[in-house]
Amino acid sequence: MSEKRSEKKLWGGRFDEPTDQFVERFTASVDFDQRLYRYDIQGSIAHSMMLQKIDVLTAEEQRQIEQGLRQIESRISEGHFKWSTELEDVHMNIEAALTELIGDAGKKLHTARSRNDQVATDIRLYLRDEIGEVIAQLTRLQTGLVELAQREADTIMPGFTHLQVAQPITFGHHMMAWYEMLERDFERLSDCLSRVNRMPLGAAALAGTTYPVEREYTAKLLGFDGICDNSLDAVSDRDFAIEFVSVAALIMTHLSRFSEELVLWTSAQFNFIELPDRFCTGSSIMPQKKNPDVPELIRGKTGRVNGHLISLLTLMKGQPLAYNKDNQEDKEPLFDTVDTVRDSLRAYADMIPSIQANRPRLYEAASQGFATATDLADYLVRVQVPFREAHEIVGKLVRIAIEKNCDLSDLELEEMQKVSQHIGDDIYTFLTLEGSVNARDHAGGTAPNQVRKAAAAAALKLQNR
Ligand code: ARG
Repeated sequence: MSEKRSEKKLWGGRFDEPTDQFVERFTASVDFDQRLYRYDIQGSIAHSMMLQKIDVLTAEEQRQIEQGLRQIESRISEGHFKWSTELEDVHMNIEAALTELIGDAGKKLHTARSRNDQVATDIRLYLRDEIGEVIAQLTRLQTGLVELAQREADTIMPGFTHLQVAQPITFGHHMMAWYEMLERDFERLSDCLSRVNRMPLGAAALAGTTYPVEREYTAKLLGFDGICDNSLDAVSDRDFAIEFVSVAALIMTHLSRFSEELVLWTSAQFNFIELPDRFCTGSSIMPQKKNPDVPELIRGKTGRVNGHLISLLTLMKGQPLAYNKDNQEDKEPLFDTVDTVRDSLRAYADMIPSIQANRPRLYEAASQGFATATDLADYLVRVQVPFREAHEIVGKLVRIAIEKNCDLSDLELEEMQKVSQHIGDDIYTFLTLEGSVNARDHAGGTAPNQVRKAAAAAALKLQNR
């Protein structure tokens, strides 16, 4: 059974019967797109100023429109506005309220405009602001990482490949790796912003408008870098949103990997770091537990952002030009992506400065697993042993050390010389963890010296951002 309504729609002129009540709810977007109200009003005010400039509105009409819209804006932000599903979306709710408030002038606002260019403009204004907020949180996090790297530039820890101890590294170097990933995320966000910040208004429904609109003027009022050059493209593509979500998916992927390390590192088995209690929770049944919930949750939330990326790509892929109602489905995935990535970065930015590196434990872990084996091989190469032979010799020495249950640096010199007479008594300086990290003293290397340089350069970059 279809339900029927008799309300007059803003577009109701050519319709014989009212919209089915279920269809009305099914097609409405106001429950979620009301989030755009500030941008909708900002765009409408700029549009009205342009309409006045080209003499479509009188100065008085423009003044009434602007004042009315500002009044509606306060009503909404104070929670006194009554949103109506019958009015479908944020745009028609605000326009209807404006006409109710100021009368006929309100009906003129939609001249030379369509909801198609209006909504595309709103989303771009919204996303531009939110990218600014995401960048702010990202920058806080990077700043925290750089400070942690400076503090722990000398802290030795095991570096891993295949989660097996590989070579000694410094904790500061490890933190700077995360900084670098986020730096590329920053570049991607900035690049994405340059395409978000283009104005669709003036494209109207799809073909442009018969009014002599001054799009550059409106764009300037709204702080856009320029206009969308083709009206069909302006109203139909959401590639700018997809691009943002793909950048967000990469940010979440970075945070997810980082989270995996924090989860491992806080476990009793690793015991590499301590997270402050305020970022952890307990168990309702096991009194000894302190769980790293924040990293775990962020690792989990990565899935929904990846999902949103696929949603938006799929939403777009079958659409012929120009606008289709499908595009109304762009908002929830976009909004949730914005919330998720911004809040995840915020949680990380809050958490990172208070990480305590367990220096003795990190050192001990680096001493296990023959982390300096490569240094021994490099030593042999320097005294003219071909690398492949050196590899073989070190392999034999590792086997002896495993049998004796000791580290390479615990082997007697004579014992080592039995395997290769090229080994001299200077070998022990190369087998220490400090010697190993200090030797990697080149741009991008793990030497404390290099970590300090990299962190100083990063700090300077962040200050000038
Ligand atoms: N609520 C719509 C959206 O989000 C606004 C544009 C509607 N345009 C239209 N021709 N029905 O996309």
